[in-house]
Amino acid sequence: METQRLASDPPGIARASEIVSAGGLVAFATETVYGLGADARDGGAVARVYAAKGRPSFNPLIVHVADLEMAQRYGVFDQQTRALARQFWPGPLSIVVPLAPHHGLSSLVTAGLDTVALRVPAHPGARALLAQFDGPIAAPSANPSGRISPTTPEHVIAGLQGKIDAVLDGGTCTVGLESTIIGGAPLALLRQGGVPEEEIVEITGPLAQAGTDITAPGQLASHYAPRAPLRLNAKGAQKGEIMLGFGPGPCDLNLSPAGDLTQAAANLFAHLHALDATNKPIAVAPIPNTGLGAAINDRLERAAAPR
Ligand code: TXA
Ligand code: MG
Repeated sequence: METQRLASDPPGIARASEIVSAGGLVAFATETVYGLGADARDGGAVARVYAAKGRPSFNPLIVHVADLEMAQRYGVFDQQTRALARQFWPGPLSIVVPLAPHHGLSSLVTAGLDTVALRVPAHPGARALLAQFDGPIAAPSANPSGRISPTTPEHVIAGLQGKIDAVLDGGTCTVGLESTIIGGAPLALLRQGGVPEEEIVEITGPLAQAGTDITAPGQLASHYAPRAPLRLNAKGAQKGEIMLGFGPGPCDLNLSPAGDLTQAAANLFAHLHALDATNKPIAVAPIPNTGLGAAINDRLERAAAPR
């Protein structure tokens, strides 16, 4: 199969929507990372997502919808989850809620769970696609399973060329980290991401500790992995290493020379892709663990984990 590159203009959006309607796979930009989209009601299409990524098939996917009203066709929101949706949607937050009756989603999307992860993305290209398609789009990050998440159309093509129908070009992702995932009763943080925990707690109050029985690939120890080994909290590069910096100081690539965590998050995966291409071991400067720094450190620890 030849992977088409589509512009995010009306003809490109229309073509992307047609492909998804026909059970095909379209990678599209969200503000977090590129997603590999399929009709969430079409089991065959969802199976092709797992196949294209080489992903273990028991991991549930996030379902992308146009707004809270559409989300409520698929999931049941309570006062707390509705307040979170009103505060953070559209945006980088995924909310896990019980499945609604007659939801019509493929059980492959939920991996047979009785809950579903829902998200309203903010990227204008994603919003245009969801408006045109007028249905739920299941989308994991558009990378081969276990590899670095894609934040540009070039990353998607490098990983999935020939395995998916199209890439809808939405430029470079502005947040650069996957969505924060929240869910469960009592509500717990299931994955650090684009919305810092501090902002969520302002709406919800203190969160519960996530159970250890959650099988999320983002929670496997080794994930988001470059090919070369990674050394964290490095004061400087050792012989043969290439240095990923943060803030002032010598390095080969800098996440944010000014020490800005938002900028660092946006650059994280693109810089890891670039350093990975050198095939050298990577030393990473310390990143403060506050705000978006918690999600950045989470991704770096997984990338550094033994595998
Ligand atoms: O920013 C993002 O979230 C990106 C963009 C494309 O939206 N998507 C993304 O999807 O990161 P993915 O498939 O790489 O990660 C989805 C995570 C997984 O860790 C999965 O286990 C968890 O969401 N998840 C999905 N449904 C769940 C559920 N019902 N209960 C608990 N975790 C769930
Ligand atoms: Mg992923």
